[in-house]
Amino acid sequence: MRSAKDFFRPLAVGAPTPLTEIPARPSRAIHFFDPSNPKMAAKVPDMVGTVDVLLGNLEDAVKADNKVAAREGLVKIARETPGLGGDGPTQLWTRVNALDSPWGLDDLTTLVPAIGDRLDVIMVPKVQGAEDIHYVDRLLAQLEAKAGLDRPILVHAILETARGVANVEEICGASPRMQGLSLGPADLAADRRMKTTRVGGGHPGYLVRQDPEGGEINGPRTTYQQDLWHYTIARMVDACAMHGIYPYYGPFGDITDVVACEDQFRNAFLLGCVGTWSLHPKQIAIANRVFSPSVEDVRHARRVAAAMSALGGGGTGAVMLDGKMEDDASLKQCLVMVELAEQLAAIDPELKKQYDAIELEG
Ligand code: GLV
Ligand code: MG
Repeated sequence: MRSAKDFFRPLAVGAPTPLTEIPARPSRAIHFFDPSNPKMAAKVPDMVGTVDVLLGNLEDAVKADNKVAAREGLVKIARETPGLGGDGPTQLWTRVNALDSPWGLDDLTTLVPAIGDRLDVIMVPKVQGAEDIHYVDRLLAQLEAKAGLDRPILVHAILETARGVANVEEICGASPRMQGLSLGPADLAADRRMKTTRVGGGHPGYLVRQDPEGGEINGPRTTYQQDLWHYTIARMVDACAMHGIYPYYGPFGDITDVVACEDQFRNAFLLGCVGTWSLHPKQIAIANRVFSPSVEDVRHARRVAAAMSALGGGGTGAVMLDGKMEDDASLKQCLVMVELAEQLAAIDPELKKQYDAIELEG
């Protein structure tokens, strides 16, 4: 057992001191690109400033023959792209190969010395339990010390095995580096032996049906498609909130179905997720829209905050607004929305304009 007082001590002599709080940097869309694909790599410089996070993917969807080229491509892009990673407007993340793969170790030992000062977050796939995070935690500390880095690289786990889901709380609390969790619906479905063949999203067979009317089993009965991912996302949200880190939806593979994609993203946002993956530039726009509070929600939240503050007593008590009771607890919900709007307005001038134009009366 590790003493609580040692938790925030570096795991290697000379490694940067772990953070006691994970910064709430906007990360509505984590846009994946394959650094070994010259067409995708060429687009990266123009995307800086237009998306919250660019992620150089080294794992699944990159051919085995291209693993080394992807790793080297990421090093080149990180070194040559102004504004990407570090204090730049767009964060730089990577998804390394799994810890039991032939490439995972070389990914870490190459990237940290070469571009550790630019890499904000390392996404680790197929995390099964706290032991995987402990391994990465110590190795990163050693590599950071050797490279002379002055800020710790954060770690993000993909939840994509049944064991990972069963251990979700201990994964989130395994290291002060833990930044967040993403849902990995494709691997998770396979690992659980679910009978789906899609990457994220719903399934028309997963439904509930209205009771028969007048005993007519074969009469017209409305069906309601259910959300396959509700249980897992709800568990992720609680585990992340408990440990002060951030939950994300994952991939939505049907690039053409922008409507269902938006619905899945919105469900995740409403449940507490802060962002999602984007696999195609058109999903960036969807994610930015969905994971930014609407003007109407911000207006309502500010009205509640103003009404509660007008009560005096430090904003405690209850008020009636449009026939609805608002109190200390609804104020707390509204403040989540107001704070998020402020963080996003600070990096998104278009949103700032919309939020600044909000009038509270009327
Ligand atoms: C993502 O990595 C997934 O498996 O869905
Ligand atoms: Mg996966």
